[in-house]
Amino acid sequence: MAARWYEHWREEVFPLLPTGRPRRFLEIGIGMGDTARFIGKHGKETSDDTYVGIDPWEAETHRQRSDVTATIEEVGRNEERARWQIKRAWGSNATVFNNRSHVVLPLLSRQCPFDLILVDGLHTTEGVLQDSRLAWPLLADGGIMIWDDWGKMKRDHKAVKAAVAMFTEEVEGQYKELFRTRQYGAQKCQ
Ligand SMILES: C[S@@+](CC[C@H](N)C(=O)[O-])C[C@H]1O[C@@H](n2cnc3c(N)ncnc32)[C@H](O)[C@@H]1O
Repeated sequence: MAARWYEHWREEVFPLLPTGRPRRFLEIGIGMGDTARFIGKHGKETSDDTYVGIDPWEAETHRQRSDVTATIEEVGRNEERARWQIKRAWGSNATVFNNRSHVVLPLLSRQCPFDLILVDGLHTTEGVLQDSRLAWPLLADGGIMIWDDWGKMKRDHKAVKAAVAMFTEEVEGQYKELFRTRQYGAQKCQ
């Protein structure tokens, strides 16, 4: 169950998010919606909190991860399950984009700034770097960005680690490192 990877967010992430106003969450790469549901259950502060998720649910993009092969039918089932979980957790406070992140992220200026952004889409170095660069300006001051699959040793996750190393160098001085687990967490300076 993917949610267990996010259990530490309950102590290390959600308490750092703003209180007294609606929180905004962005997830790049929704998959089956497990994290969207987890945030909806444990990270929400008010009934006006919002969730934005992006995923093209294409068999082709799954195949770009060497450890994942998916048929069109499986990808279709992922989208169906994700939409069902998001509907239950977020109701009408969720917006789901069925498209690739590099197309959607430049269109999100009206939904931002986000308080928490999870980068978990295309797991190539170029893909993660592009998502990081496009998403960072959408992150609130004091907001948190988390890269999933940073700390695993599979080939794809070395690609994530390389991208995070390059990106954090680019934004040096603009963030504080929060944690290095299976995920890498950083908080944007206020
Ligand atoms: C590991 S799964 C995401 C899991 C999800 N974040 C969770 O924790 O439950 C990776 C997802 O990224 C999606 N993806 C691949 N390329 C993408 C892209 N260019 N833009 C957005 N999502 C992408 C895949 O379709 C897949 O569903």
